[in-house]
Amino acid sequence: MLKNSHPEAPSQNNKNNTQGSLHGTWASRWTFILAATGSAVGLGNIWKFPYIAGENGGGAFVLVYIACIAIVALPIMVAEVTLGRMGRQSPINTIRNLIKESGASKSFGVIGWMGVSAGLMILSYYSVIAGWALNYIEYMISGVFQDVTAEQAGTIFDDLMKDKNELIFWQSLFMLMTVVVVMCGIHKGLGLASQILMPLLFLLLIGLLVFGYQQGDLTGAFNFLFGFNFGSLTWQSVLVALGHAFFTLSIGMGAMMVYGAYMPSNTGVFSNVLMVGVLDTLVALIAGLVIFSIVFANPSIESSAGPGLMFVSLPVAFGNMLGGLFFGTIFFVLVSLAAWSSSISLIEPAVAHLVESKGFSRITASLLLGMVTWVVGLGSVFSFNIWTEVKIAGFNFFELIDFITANIMLPLTGIFVAIFIGWFVKEKMVQEELSGDNQGLSCVWRWTVRYISPLAVAAVLIMGIYPRMT
Ligand code: TRP
Repeated sequence: MLKNSHPEAPSQNNKNNTQGSLHGTWASRWTFILAATGSAVGLGNIWKFPYIAGENGGGAFVLVYIACIAIVALPIMVAEVTLGRMGRQSPINTIRNLIKESGASKSFGVIGWMGVSAGLMILSYYSVIAGWALNYIEYMISGVFQDVTAEQAGTIFDDLMKDKNELIFWQSLFMLMTVVVVMCGIHKGLGLASQILMPLLFLLLIGLLVFGYQQGDLTGAFNFLFGFNFGSLTWQSVLVALGHAFFTLSIGMGAMMVYGAYMPSNTGVFSNVLMVGVLDTLVALIAGLVIFSIVFANPSIESSAGPGLMFVSLPVAFGNMLGGLFFGTIFFVLVSLAAWSSSISLIEPAVAHLVESKGFSRITASLLLGMVTWVVGLGSVFSFNIWTEVKIAGFNFFELIDFITANIMLPLTGIFVAIFIGWFVKEKMVQEELSGDNQGLSCVWRWTVRYISPLAVAAVLIMGIYPRMT
């Protein structure tokens, strides 16, 4: 284990944990599981997964996605959590210290830096979309979607996109919510938020599933998501599935590394990571079932709708169902809560770094980083209205940040993480950290991160960028 570079680092109040982080340690393995699931379950599960499953033909895509989670993403998540727990600091300092200890090349320091910057960049646009969800809570409550047609719902969405002041208002509110939680620290902020938000989220989701069962076409949704029709599967959809496996499990930017740094030492890594993977996948599948059962119950709506599925098709469906506005409100509360527990993990690695290295207080660090991210986010707001014509390499600002982070930075960091822990960090140190885990599993994992993960992710990276370049 590494020395903590902070002489003043308090010994943690967690009695079982001999080695803690300066920032605190999760109260138990369950807080880790809830917090990590909170990070993983977000807009990726509820907004993105259902529409990419729809666009890629449903069933077969779901199967490939699950395979990507199990074979590639979970091993990298184990790698991140293990590295984090070995270092017990922000990703930047954890990687820096592990490089020193193992004599590896300083270039691996890029893992920490790229991760922390990717987190802030993702948060900049994530807070804009989460802001739409907040606004839709208000729309549902005030009944603007009552009995609307698809055209009218489209107009409501388009009008919102054109109204930059409205977008900025909701983006700012969401950013403030994020900063307030992170400001309150590991126990009273992130830990407490996860302990409240996650059970609530599961409850709301189950409620919506019951609504989908009673009022919607759950059988149709089930057949769509689990009817394995391999004819519609393309090589491109395999790539989409792998890219999404990264995004949905929050890997490739140090979020899981920093959550691992706060994990008690007296618990295994594999079982906890597996739990997070299972919960995340369950939420994505249930969200898919809910959304499609509601959309399919209204035959006039196109189900292939793409990114507008959640903000156009779904509100139309809700607006035309008995009790729809009430459950529609619940739905957008669910989306906002899920986005909230994810956004705190996007900013935490950077906050931890400023506290450790620059001597900032947690409050100052959170406020400062929140401000910077908010300003960058304005670029995404403007790309839906006054900057729609401003294009760099064919992308508007929002698309550019999304493309650079999700398709380049996350997979790159993922490859480096796998190579670093698989080939460079001393095997003995890794084994020691995983000594509480099943040793057979540990061997299989090691082999996977050395060979399978880097190659698979490299394939995604190249195939994802290449078509854009030619
Ligand atoms: N996983 C979240 C989602 O599905 C988003 C997210 C949170 C994320 N933290 C991350 C994505 C870190 C990549 C990296 O919406």
